[in-house]
Amino acid sequence: MMRIMCNETLSSRGVYVATVAANDAVCDEHYRLRLRLTEFPPSRAGQFVQLQCRPPAPQLGAAVVDWPENKPPQFTQPELMGTEPLLRRPLSLAGRRDDAGAVELEILYRTVGAGTRRLANVRAGQELSVLGPLGHPLPIIDAKPAAALVGGGVGIPPMIYLAHALQEAGKKATAFCGARSRELLPLAKGVQPAATDGTPTLCTAEFAQAETPTVLTTDDGSLGVKGFITQAFEQWLDSGAAAGNQLVVYSCGPEVMMRRVGEICIARDIECYLSLERHMACGMGTCQSCVVKIRDAGEQGWSYKLCCTDGPVFPAGDVIWE
Ligand SMILES: Cc1cc2nc3c(=O)[nH]c(=O)nc-3n(C[C@H](O)[C@H](O)[C@H](O)COP(=O)(O)OP(=O)(O)OC[C@H]3O[C@@H](n4cnc5c(N)ncnc54)[C@H](O)[C@@H]3O)c2cc1C
Ligand code: FES
Repeated sequence: MMRIMCNETLSSRGVYVATVAANDAVCDEHYRLRLRLTEFPPSRAGQFVQLQCRPPAPQLGAAVVDWPENKPPQFTQPELMGTEPLLRRPLSLAGRRDDAGAVELEILYRTVGAGTRRLANVRAGQELSVLGPLGHPLPIIDAKPAAALVGGGVGIPPMIYLAHALQEAGKKATAFCGARSRELLPLAKGVQPAATDGTPTLCTAEFAQAETPTVLTTDDGSLGVKGFITQAFEQWLDSGAAAGNQLVVYSCGPEVMMRRVGEICIARDIECYLSLERHMACGMGTCQSCVVKIRDAGEQGWSYKLCCTDGPVFPAGDVIWE
């Protein structure tokens, strides 16, 4: 089992107040959020933040709560009585820009429930509380010159950040992005059309900016190749576009997709990292809500690890799927 260590980034997390620079719809159910901060610790692709999906409540100070005998305590504080989500939500960093004296973080999110729907109503100029950066990054492997980035749905954002990091590291990357239909693909049109035969092209603006040709698939065939992204990825490997021993594969998205990406890579002996998702209440290793079963050298051959602090990135061969 391989450990991915990055203590520098783990120890420098903090809580920061960000100003919303933009929060715009990019397609059905997906938004691009740009946050400006005066400071934010160094971060890397694969890391995430825990975002408070509502502007910070006014500091109300300590309140005395009435707790009558044999009755529940009488909560009256607005932050406990309101309908707004109390817990932060984990969201991957899709990008980062550092200007003189300011940091801009980019997040791409899909509205699926109370928190992300509330986030979609936040306007430019409002403030949001950001906890991060959290988790271990996707590792860039010095010895491997080529990379394949396989993202599905809300797993695409960390792949965009990674594409830029790989470009800076001088790697030859190819992206594979899948969605159910063109309306659910959170990416803008690039300078070339999406191929229907699985040829990577500069068909998305986000990956084109990192000079990363991309294969798009949609389940209904409304854009790119019709079918699953795992099929297009396997076909690309079969075509011999990259030698397996020169290649690192990174994947994030629905579990069924990552599991298949892992199987494909393990069968071909290709180094592969998966960025797992779990429900995360704290994101910092405290609540134990995010366990994943990971192979290890112990007596029973596996142990539970915390997706937030031990992951979210794990080598594909270490993940035990249930
Ligand atoms: C490390 C990490 C990075 C993530 N990055 C992104 C990202 O970049 N963009 C993005 O859109 N989403 C991302 N997610 C998922 C995102 O955190 C959830 O969609 C969000 O918390 C839902 O909050 P909600 O209040 O809107 O929905 P809820 O009301 O909490 O849930 C709505 C539905 O979504 C499901 N759900 C909620 N959280 C998760 C989760 N963590 N995994 C699987 N299903 C979940 C619930 O079971 C429910 O069916 C990430 C999750 C993790 C753990
Ligand atoms: S989210 Fe709390 S321990 Fe991982």
